[in-house]
Amino acid sequence: MESKLQQLKQEILSQLAQVKQPEVLRDLEIKYLGRKGELTKILRSVADLSAEEKKTLGRLANEIKIELINKFEEVKISLNKNVGADYVDATLPGVEIKQGHLHPITIIQNEIEDLFSSLGFTVLDGPELESDYYNFTALNIPPYHPARDMQDTFYIDHKNAKGEYDLLMRTQTSPMQIRAMQKYGAPIKCIVPGRCFRSEATDVRHEHTFYQVEGLMVDENINFSNLKAVLEELGKKLFGPDTALRLRPKFYPFVEPGSNLEYSCLLCAGKGCRVCKNTGWLEIGGCGMVHPNVLHAGGIDPKKYQGFAFGYGLDRLAMLKYGINDIRLFHSGDLKFLKQF
Ligand code: FA5
Repeated sequence: MESKLQQLKQEILSQLAQVKQPEVLRDLEIKYLGRKGELTKILRSVADLSAEEKKTLGRLANEIKIELINKFEEVKISLNKNVGADYVDATLPGVEIKQGHLHPITIIQNEIEDLFSSLGFTVLDGPELESDYYNFTALNIPPYHPARDMQDTFYIDHKNAKGEYDLLMRTQTSPMQIRAMQKYGAPIKCIVPGRCFRSEATDVRHEHTFYQVEGLMVDENINFSNLKAVLEELGKKLFGPDTALRLRPKFYPFVEPGSNLEYSCLLCAGKGCRVCKNTGWLEIGGCGMVHPNVLHAGGIDPKKYQGFAFGYGLDRLAMLKYGINDIRLFHSGDLKFLKQF
């Protein structure tokens, strides 16, 4: 039986060496390895051998079978290559193409960028790793100022020439107000979407890493009405034409006067619900007229120019728009959540 097996192997190998057509290869495969094939028949007959013979011949028969299957595969691949790039083996199983899509925060960011671009605003990008100066001091928040406590962050383990830890992960996109004014001067109209960081305990509305969008407009004769008009447009674009804007005084050291930024709740149309805590209004950020000290730090003469600025959370906007009840879902990497958008 051993010599029969070796003989058959040589016979198959020499025939394989001459194959030029895939159809011929298929016929050979059926002839030798098919259900009623010659090698299959020999393999079946191993069952009738004695236990001792089964051990040696059974192993040999299996080795030859595997060697031949691999050889057939090899010839099949080389024939396919020869056929050219347009050859399609319709018998191969298909490969599923998994399509990706935009993250919900990116979708909202794109919408906002479109709106502001149409209003003539430039879209800028700023560094996530900031200096203490740009993140706080230049924004009218000197080192002793209690407003720093509201925005604790992650400091970098690196000292400057004066021995101070002055590098940190930015807590807000507002430092870009200063950088934009220094780089482009006045007049200027820009928005700055970007990632921010705060060292705070996370909950359904707070993350240590989240997104904001900053807005800045500086020119001659800019006043609070201009700010209000732009924010009204933004609310209508995001939440629908009936959206109302509410501005109530709030302290931010870098604006004067300062205000919070609220829209009528889109879920209950201002009537009051769980999401807006029965107030009918949703707070998304802050705004105000740029403080003269900030214009000064940006290299702009506050006697000639005025400006407004606003900043709001993108994650919070996406939560409202899509009715998401936990901010931590955004960066959880949970595909069940992400596939809904
Ligand atoms: C600021 O960060 C100011 N820079 C906004 C500003 C800009 C005011 C220009 C005036 C002029 P505040 O700390 O309130 O303000 O944050 C603004 C928004 O960012 C919040 O309303 C919220 O939507 C979002 N935000 C702040 N902290 C977090 C956090 N930990 N997780 C998720 N969103 C946050």
